[in-house]
Amino acid sequence: MKKVLALVLVAMMALGMVAVASAEGVKTYKVGVSIYQFTDNFMTLYRNEIESYFKSLETDSVKYEITMADGKNDMAEQTNQVQNFITQGMDVIILNLVQTSSADVLIDMIVDAGIPLVLINREPLAYDAEGKTIDEAYEGILNNPQVCYVGADARQSGTFQGEMVAELDNHGDINGDGKISYIMIEGDPENIDAQYRTEFSVKALTDAGYEVACLDDQVGNWDQTKGQELCANALTKYGFDVEVVFCNNDAMALGAATAITTAGRTVGEDIYLLGVDALEEAVQLVKDGEMTGTVLNDHIGQSHTAVDVAVKLLNGEAIDNYYWVDYVKVNKAYVDAQ
Ligand code: GAL
Repeated sequence: MKKVLALVLVAMMALGMVAVASAEGVKTYKVGVSIYQFTDNFMTLYRNEIESYFKSLETDSVKYEITMADGKNDMAEQTNQVQNFITQGMDVIILNLVQTSSADVLIDMIVDAGIPLVLINREPLAYDAEGKTIDEAYEGILNNPQVCYVGADARQSGTFQGEMVAELDNHGDINGDGKISYIMIEGDPENIDAQYRTEFSVKALTDAGYEVACLDDQVGNWDQTKGQELCANALTKYGFDVEVVFCNNDAMALGAATAITTAGRTVGEDIYLLGVDALEEAVQLVKDGEMTGTVLNDHIGQSHTAVDVAVKLLNGEAIDNYYWVDYVKVNKAYVDAQ
């Protein structure tokens, strides 16, 4: 009898030890990620890389349980998701805001819940309802040791677009009338990326001393179908007067490329086309001469930085409040050299 009891005890201890080992030996962190909209081409690359990079950092003793939520471009939906993340006790939240102008509401909720926060891709620079910047309203990202923003400075991407036009032999003035006539296809106008790309692409040309004329400026909301439709309309309306098509991103530029071909126009000969993101399809078009250029929006660099800083926060390490990843100019010379 004694022997049996001893055996049972040993077995129980062994089992107990196994349980202790799994409870103490493996730490699983809960990570909540909310992306403004899953159907966005660029943010799809970005979010997939967040997941795979987190996985690559896992060890026998550290695991990351990632909950990836689709904000569906709906602020109410995203607010619910953040509430759920808080209820679920996420250890860190990565947030790609639907609406940057309401950033303070979500930042407040998350900070008040004591959860570290990494904002990505949509910089909350916009003014809140009282006309204060997010930093003033919240006393911000800037002074909060648990909050940061990871992104790319969209001014640089716009400047690169303009420079690629300026660097052409005719500087974008195909018909030689002394000015560069362009159409602008914008992303979501609330988004600082759209605002800066629109402004700085043209500024790079005027700063270089070229005269410009804006024939059309429309909102395509980062969307390929919309980009195609807007470009087709502008080509119908302004015909060969359109010398340059600036698109705030590649999805819209891919749509514009289709519209340009359909209109019987030829990029590099009677029109120029610029995008941003360096999506694989766009880089191929640059290689084939069907797009003048794009700008690499480094989703690998940005997602890895976001994850690295999230891990730092999980480890209680100090972080910076802003992390910037560079854009890269992608024209034919660059692609051919790769
Ligand atoms: C930009 C990107 C766009 C779109 C947007 C979403 O940086 O160039 O394609 O993804 O972010 O906020």
